[in-house]
Formats: sequence, structure tokens, C-alpha cells
Amino acid sequence: MSANRPAAVVVLAAGEGTRMKSATPKVLHEICGRSLVGHVLAAAGELDPGELVVVVGHARQQVVDHLTENAPAARTAVQTEQNGTGHAVRMALEELGGAVDGTVVVVCGDTPLLTGETLRQLAGTHARESNAVTVLTAKVPDATGYGRIVRDGASGAVTAIVEHKDASEAQRAIREINSGVFAFDGRLLADALGKVRRDNSQGEEYLTDVLGILREAGHRVGASVAADHREIAGINNRVQLAQARRSLNDRLLERAMLAGVTVVDPASTWLDVTVTFGRDVVVHPGTQLLGASHLADDSEVGPQSRLTDTTVGAGARMEFTVADGAEVGAGATVGPYAYLRPGTRLGVRAKAGTYVEMKNATVGEGTKVPHLSYVGDATIGEFTNIGAASVFVNYDGQDKHHSSIGSHCRTGADNMFVAPVSVGDGAYTAAGSVITRDVPAGSLGVARGQQRNVDGWVTRRRPGSAAAKAAEAAAARDAAGPDTTGES
Ligand code: UD1
Ligand code: CA
Repeated sequence: MSANRPAAVVVLAAGEGTRMKSATPKVLHEICGRSLVGHVLAAAGELDPGELVVVVGHARQQVVDHLTENAPAARTAVQTEQNGTGHAVRMALEELGGAVDGTVVVVCGDTPLLTGETLRQLAGTHARESNAVTVLTAKVPDATGYGRIVRDGASGAVTAIVEHKDASEAQRAIREINSGVFAFDGRLLADALGKVRRDNSQGEEYLTDVLGILREAGHRVGASVAADHREIAGINNRVQLAQARRSLNDRLLERAMLAGVTVVDPASTWLDVTVTFGRDVVVHPGTQLLGASHLADDSEVGPQSRLTDTTVGAGARMEFTVADGAEVGAGATVGPYAYLRPGTRLGVRAKAGTYVEMKNATVGEGTKVPHLSYVGDATIGEFTNIGAASVFVNYDGQDKHHSSIGSHCRTGADNMFVAPVSVGDGAYTAAGSVITRDVPAGSLGVARGQQRNVDGWVTRRRPGSAAAKAAEAAAARDAAGPDTTGES
């Protein structure tokens, strides 16, 4: 547990986010596999706070449902009308039963790049300097729209935060801005919030006014300057959403590369925060690695692949593949152009080759499904070879059925395994078979129509055609040798 553990972290997430032009509330938009508010909660969680409160208002039910599912430890406080950031924090304190003893950290729900590390620095400065309030600031190239940090000319101490809309020309020239993240003394915060007025251009209760109020009352006001200003960027529209996704993705790729992953083309490789890697993994261009995917040592994925919640065994190779909820064994090969759907478990050195789709299928060690096949609801043993263009016919229009093929089998090309059906160990099946009955171990299953040749059909029924001429020429050639064409 951290020495600077706050009593509470308050996440402000009641605003609508009008500029997103979206039916989805702003804080529920996603980057790198997590909602904006989810990223903020993950960073806040690193402080191990006594209480975690999210202020909700706009599209409240949607946000509450999302939190219930993804952040069950978080409490919610309702702000029915969005009367400003100060008012929002007041609602959070009410939810916590009034004032809180100890440190209260306030963060906005729309700053997904904020790290736990930066929050720890803020909490550290706050405790070390025994401040009544410490604001996280940053120096930005363009401060438009942000609250400006006003410092005393002589001492450099923070005296106030002035909102862009309320700022003078001189104040607008200031490039140090309020990130919207603060550490407060809980008691002093509650007192000061009671004194915040709405006499500003937006008619709102500004949380930022608390700084001036505390300073005038003789309390210590401090600031912690973020090392990287990009971390505190708030998302207001989809351009900023894309920029934040790019930044976070770059951060994730950098971490992976420094840990021993070769990323051939970082510009076209996308990761979710939940993806993990072994060493000497190679990721080829155009690859998305999503959800709880894990790539073990020496595996190679891509180009042009999308893996969701998929584990890739050591040394496995997947190219031009879409996989979701699949487990790929060590040394297995997948693709090019394969689709592994949920419940696919490929054994060690197994193969799902070109234009192969699998779903809810367990494929044993060394077994190969090399070409143009669908394997659904099936179990295949070890070292079996499934012929090209085979289909596990698992659906009767109403229900799904399961099939099983044993170990060391050789099934012919273009087989249909009509489920439920089983093929025993070491059995063979003939090409073109529609297998509807079980094939015992060691047997050859043949299930296809007998071939019949209708002699001379082309010459009779397609006289004068190119085919007929070719047939007649063949017959003339054969006339020299033993007559087997039987022309009538
Ligand atoms: C706020 C700060 C500004 C700072 C900027 C940083 C104030 C008055 N201004 O401005 O100094 O530079 O953040 O990004 O605090 N919210 C509520 N309830 C409300 C109003 C807002 O929950 O009644 C939430 C929003 O959902 C959002 C956050 O508070 O997550 C910030 O609100 P927003 O309107 O984006 O503030 P800014 O105008 O950007
Ligand atoms: Ca605003």
C-alpha cells in the first residue's frame, strides 16, 4: 500500500461530450481496448484509494451499467444537472457522507493517457509540501480552451486558475494550464466548495475557484508539473480520440519493443492494453492484437492479422489470420487466410492452413487441416490429416452436432462429415465421401456414387462442337493402336 494513499479519488464523468456527436456518452468511447473512463479508473486504481467515486449524469444508466460490469469497485454519485466541476465534486462528497478526512484526488473521466505514475507524483508532492491543494499542471504548445495557471511574479506560487473564457489577454498568453487533476485536503475542500459562486461566464460552479478561496484563507496551494503534457490531454472530439489512441498505442508498442518484441511496422500495428508477450516475438505489418491475447516466445504473427482473446504458443506462426477466442499450440501454423473462431484449440505443431475456418474445435498434436475446409464442433485426434475441401456438417438447420475423428487418420479430399458422426483411430475415408455413418478404427469409409461413363455421348449430343472434334481426333489416334474407344 502506498504511503500517500488517498482517502478518495473522484472521477468526473457527468458531462455529455457534445462535440463527440455521438449516441454513446463521451467517457464510454474506447481506445486500445478500454473505455476512456476505464483508462482513468485504471490509473486511479494505482493509488489504491480508500474510495473510488465516479460522478455520473448525462446518459447515466449507460455509464452506470458500464461501471458495474467493468469497475465494480467504483461507487457512483449522481449529478442530475451539469452545473460545473465544483458542483460535481460536491455531489461526490455528498455520496461519501459530507467531508472526507485525508486526501481527495479529483480527475476527469476524459483523460485516458494519464498514468498512475503521474498521479503518484502529484500525491507525493501534495503530501511532502503539506498543501491544502496541489494542482497537476502542464506546459502546452496551444493553451486554447484550458484554464490558465496564474503564478505570483515574485515567488512563483500559484495564486489562481482562470478559465479561458474568463481570462484577460495577458492571462491567455500563459502556456501553463490546469490539467483538471487535483489533490485536496478533504476537509478544506468541502469547506471551500461551499463558498464557490457562479459569477463567471458559464454560470457554473468551478472547481478551479477552490484554489483562490483556499489561498485567500491562508492555506498552502501547490502545483506539480507533468513531465509530458500529452498525458493530460482531454478528449473532446473524435480527432482528439484518434490522436489519443495513436499516442497510447505508441506507448504500448514501445513498452513491448523494449521488452523484446520485434514490431516490423509500428505505424500499422495496434495493441490493446491487455495484450501480453513473451520474448523474441515478431509482429508483422497490419496486425491488430486485441483483448486478452498472449503471444508466447518466438511466435510470429501477421502480416494482416487480427487476434482477439487468442493465445499463441511458443514458436507458432500465424499469417493473414483472423482469430477470436482461440488457443494455438506451440509450433502450430495458421493461414494464410484462416479464420479461427471461439473455442478453437489447435494442438502442438498442428496446422490450420489456407482458407480454413474453425469453430469450437479441438485439434490434436501434429494434425493438419491444410486447405479450404470448415471444422465446426469437432474433435480431431493426433497426427491426422484432413483432406482438402472438407466440411464438418455440424448444423441440421435447428441444432448443432459434434463429430470426432481419431488419431492417425487420413481422410480423403472433399469429405462431408455429417454430424454427429465419428471416425475411429487409424481409419481412412475415400475422396468425395459424404460420411453419415461411423467409420470403425482401421476401416476405409467410402460413401459416394459409383462412376458411370456414357460412351460416345459428346459426339452424339454435341455434334460439330470443339469437344466432339477433339474426341474424334483422339479416336482417330487410338485407331492405330488397340481400339478402346468403342465408337458406335
Ligand atoms: C476543465 C477546467 C479547466 C481545465 C480543463 C482540463 C473547470 C472549471 N475547468 O475545463 O481549468 O483546463 O478542465 O481539461 O474545472 N463535468 C462534470 N459535471 C459538470 C461539468 C463537468 O462531471 O457539471 C466533468 C466532465 O464530464 C469532464 C470534466 O468534468 O469529464 C471536465 O469538464 P469539461 O466541461 O470538459 O471542462 P473544461 O471546460 O474542459
Ligand atoms: Ca466546460
